[in-house]
Amino acid sequence: KTGAEVRHFLDLDVLPPETLRKIIETSRALKRGEFPNGNRKPLADKALAMIFEKPSTRTRVSFELGMKKLGGDAVVLERESSQLGRGETVADTARVLSRYVDCIMVRTTKEQKLKELADNATVPVINGLTDRTHPCQLMADVMTFEEHRGPIAGKRVTWSGDGNNMATSWIHAAVQFGFELNIACPGNLAPPQDVVQWAAKKGGKVRISSNPQEAAKGADCIVTDTWVSMGDQDTLDRTEQLRRFQVDDALMKLAQPGAVFMHCLPAHRGDEMTASVIDGPHSVVWDEAENRLHAQQGILLWCLGVI
Ligand code: CP
Ligand code: NVA
Repeated sequence: KTGAEVRHFLDLDVLPPETLRKIIETSRALKRGEFPNGNRKPLADKALAMIFEKPSTRTRVSFELGMKKLGGDAVVLERESSQLGRGETVADTARVLSRYVDCIMVRTTKEQKLKELADNATVPVINGLTDRTHPCQLMADVMTFEEHRGPIAGKRVTWSGDGNNMATSWIHAAVQFGFELNIACPGNLAPPQDVVQWAAKKGGKVRISSNPQEAAKGADCIVTDTWVSMGDQDTLDRTEQLRRFQVDDALMKLAQPGAVFMHCLPAHRGDEMTASVIDGPHSVVWDEAENRLHAQQGILLWCLGVI
């Protein structure tokens, strides 16, 4: 296959909204126990390689089991225990893995490494998180939102916290799925300018401010994430800046009465949100974690041409 024909799942902004919607609907069907063409093992004889250059619990388990449930197999490569840790290039790794497996998922640092992998692989590459984005998580998040609040188009989501990789993927999702996104974050921890400009150019309703209370008003969902992402420096200064963006009961009260609280996990009670919020009645974080399993399967079925 030529590069253009390979179905990479690299980021939400570079995939057509119809494709994203198809993946979500397939994931929902799988959760109900409905399989494409009634075939429970559509990925029989297919294999997935997963490269981890950063830790993971959910992404690893949901991709591995998601693949196996659909009849396929999965193998994990960790940076330190593979030749990547001794300097073998990402490009060479991509070429080799393409001879063994049908799909490669990668969790890495720089976005450039993801690109290098996709450019040199002859099989689909899935972005399992980079410093810049986390698109697989957003598929589970949109699915979870819709289970609780109905179609996400036209709804309002509020992000309060660090403008990190998750915030960037939420911006991509806001444009592609057509919902309003209010991001409240410290000025120097805002999502990248080019992403904000891309959203504006696409006519997206994305607002960036440093006022969490204003941003939370009327929200259908309040979402946050760790204050210290993998690779970030955990400094006192950073924590102090983020403190007033903590999601607490008072902030949840400004949202709609039935608003949901979301978090991709892992969570840090007392930092980005209080225990009362994540363990309280608005929280849907365990559904969100479960939906990674279904969403991953939807992504794999699309990448491998089953849907
Ligand atoms: N949310 C998420 O991606 O979790 P892991 O880091 O455990 O994979
Ligand atoms: N923003 C977090 C997400 C973890 C799933 C990180 O990059 O560490």
